[in-house]
Amino acid sequence: MIAETGRNIYEAKNLLERGEVVAIPTETVYGLAGNALNPEAVSKIFAVKNRPTFDPLIIHVSGITEIEKYTQNFPEKFSQLAQKYMPGPLTFLIEKKNIIPDIVTSGLGKVAIRIPDHILALELLKNLDFPLAAPSANPFGYVSPTSARHVFDQLGEKIPYILDGGSCKIGLESTIIGLENGATVVYRKGGLEIEKIEDILQEKIILKEHSSSNPQAPGMLEKHYSPDKKIEILSADTEINQTENIGFLGFEKLKSEININNQFILSKNGDLQEAARNLFEGLRWFDKTTLEKIYVELVPEHGLGLAINDRLRRAAAKS
Ligand code: TXA
Ligand code: MG
Repeated sequence: MIAETGRNIYEAKNLLERGEVVAIPTETVYGLAGNALNPEAVSKIFAVKNRPTFDPLIIHVSGITEIEKYTQNFPEKFSQLAQKYMPGPLTFLIEKKNIIPDIVTSGLGKVAIRIPDHILALELLKNLDFPLAAPSANPFGYVSPTSARHVFDQLGEKIPYILDGGSCKIGLESTIIGLENGATVVYRKGGLEIEKIEDILQEKIILKEHSSSNPQAPGMLEKHYSPDKKIEILSADTEINQTENIGFLGFEKLKSEININNQFILSKNGDLQEAARNLFEGLRWFDKTTLEKIYVELVPEHGLGLAINDRLRRAAAKS
């Protein structure tokens, strides 16, 4: 099978209604979508991604009333956030209704749910009478795709259709939040800045750092979102080994010690939004080179910089 790439939501719809999986664009990253109410379709998603079934999936719906259709006890706090930031790069963990099969949540009682802010994804969802389960459309553990081309490069021989919605405007996965004893907890830093959530809720939110032994979200696995190259985070006292065949992934400025052809700058203007949009393209670009090692520079640690640095640290973590 070789995936067809196109912009036809009806072709995607027909395949999804037949229980097939299709790649779809969202504002964060591309998703590998299947009918969330059909366990066979969901198991195809796991198979195509080579994803362990203990790692649950996010479901995608077109509006807030759909969230209520598939979940129970929708918290008041979430409704405030939803008014302002949905559709958008935010995912809620909420108690699921029985209609959501256990395979979607890996047997957990809560389901991750979000409304993607992308016109093609929303049009598609409005034309379906089921929600879409969709993890990022990459092999498990690798960097998420932010263009149809990225999806094609890795999954093109395993899926029938890629709905092409252009480059993702956010470029980082959604921020995942839940409630624990009434407190708001972030399980994955992502495309919606934590400061914006705190601003709406008027409370400090708790960051659950990764745990590699018992991940709440495998996006929390220490080694995840990883390119193939050896990555090292640059610090003030790093001695760059000039004898190696090295590259540099920087925030704003080139590094004078390193060959200019081997450098990728995330945002010449030092803009975190732009850096987020370019991050995964940059990591993938290095994987196509013959460089042996990539030095990366962390970005400022606020706003989207928190999520960008989180991905860079995981990319650099030893497995
Ligand atoms: O932006 C996004 O969220 C993208 C687009 C396609 O929507 N999706 C995405 O999905 O990043 P995925 O599967 O690559 O990452 C979802 C994360 C995983 O780390 C998973 O463990 C966690 O969400 N997750 C999903 N359901 C969960 C649940 N019921 N409880 C705890 N964690 C959950
Ligand atoms: Mg993923």
